[in-house]
Amino acid sequence: MDTLRGLPEATILSEPSDLEPFLRDESHVQGVLPMAVVKPHGPLALRELIRRAKQEGFGLVPRGAGTGKAGGCVPTAQTVVVDFSEWPGDIQVSPQDLCLSAPASAPLREVKAAAEAHGLFYPPDPNSWESCALGGTLATNAGGPNACKYGMTRHWVLSVDALLEDGEIHTFGIHSVKANAGPALGQLLIGSEGILGFIVGATLRLLPKPREFATLLLPVKRWEDLLDLPGRLCGAGYLPSAFEFFDPAVLAELRAHGPEEARRLPGEALAILEFDERGCTSEPFLEGLLALLGPMADGLEIAADERQRKGIWAVRRMTSAFLKERHPKKVSEDIVVPRSRLREFFEGLDHLGLPAVTYGHLGDGNLHVNLLTAGETDPARLEQQLMELFRLAMSLGGTLSGEHGIGLAKRNAFLALSDPAQIRALRAIKQALDPQGIFNPGKVI
Ligand code: MLT
Ligand code: ZN
Repeated sequence: MDTLRGLPEATILSEPSDLEPFLRDESHVQGVLPMAVVKPHGPLALRELIRRAKQEGFGLVPRGAGTGKAGGCVPTAQTVVVDFSEWPGDIQVSPQDLCLSAPASAPLREVKAAAEAHGLFYPPDPNSWESCALGGTLATNAGGPNACKYGMTRHWVLSVDALLEDGEIHTFGIHSVKANAGPALGQLLIGSEGILGFIVGATLRLLPKPREFATLLLPVKRWEDLLDLPGRLCGAGYLPSAFEFFDPAVLAELRAHGPEEARRLPGEALAILEFDERGCTSEPFLEGLLALLGPMADGLEIAADERQRKGIWAVRRMTSAFLKERHPKKVSEDIVVPRSRLREFFEGLDHLGLPAVTYGHLGDGNLHVNLLTAGETDPARLEQQLMELFRLAMSLGGTLSGEHGIGLAKRNAFLALSDPAQIRALRAIKQALDPQGIFNPGKVI
């Protein structure tokens, strides 16, 4: 491809058959064939790419492992995909500073393992944690079950190294939790989905590794009984490190067609609760919890060992892929409502009459509302259904995305439903940092 001829420090793909795999991520949206895919090996490639993008007027679309759920990394017209999978660098742990530095290309699985090898813990755990790249989790501010206690990716970033429109890599932040010299520009880049610049590496905050886990399966007859529980637990001083759930429809699918471990899951609906603080397996802790659960505790199962714990999590972790395999054209959303409004949300959802099934992160109100029949629904009707869903979440003080981001999939809804002042501010920032619009055009705003 002429535009990229002689680009230093890079692998370049330009055959249509090589470009095809880059059309999609794990969302339901598809991009257009990019002009090329560049896998940079060093800063010279990025500097030169920016120069040529400005000169020839093409856009740059960042890509990690392609596991995003909002179409943030799928190519739009007249773009080159910048795939960071060959970006160099090692994972370096500093136990003294309780932090770790890693390149965007580092698999999140390896980042978490490197921390663990030092008895330390990096909490973010998106469902794709075994296959995603750190860079993607930073660009999308990934969440996961642990966010219920530990928050999102952005809460664990001390500094980011980012490519800006001058073609250079700049570092924002230092290796300490205390840094207050002016507004936190690095935080602006995290979760910006590559529209302001590309994150090429970061230094992450770590904690001592939790060593004790109480993992509970909580089956219920009437699944609505679960809805007040996150708030009641927090109100009573219990903070689960995860509180996940399956509604009756999702649980029935898992039981009927899922793997061995799923077939024996009890209840009409089910919650998975996990605690990870010291003492959480002690009798006083569990007795207090049982007292709080009252009659709901009938049928409660506690994982007896690490093998059982892993079995429970394996079922939860495969749910998204399992549903997608059974309903390839499903649309999975990730709305949020404050946990005190969960009951109102589900009443509202019933009222809307959407053909929706739900599972996800009940503990922080981040719900994966799935429209399994989206493929057979008229596109205009589907859009209307999604807008109704988003409006409902927002009317209860929630938002249209808790962890997947906006990307391409939710751009129209984000523009239509956000406060215009927010969109004006974001566009002004975009204009200041990327006046020629080369970073991930057509996404988010
Ligand atoms: C999950 O928590 O399983 C994923 O974020 C959900 C999804 O695929 O929508
Ligand atoms: Zn999720």
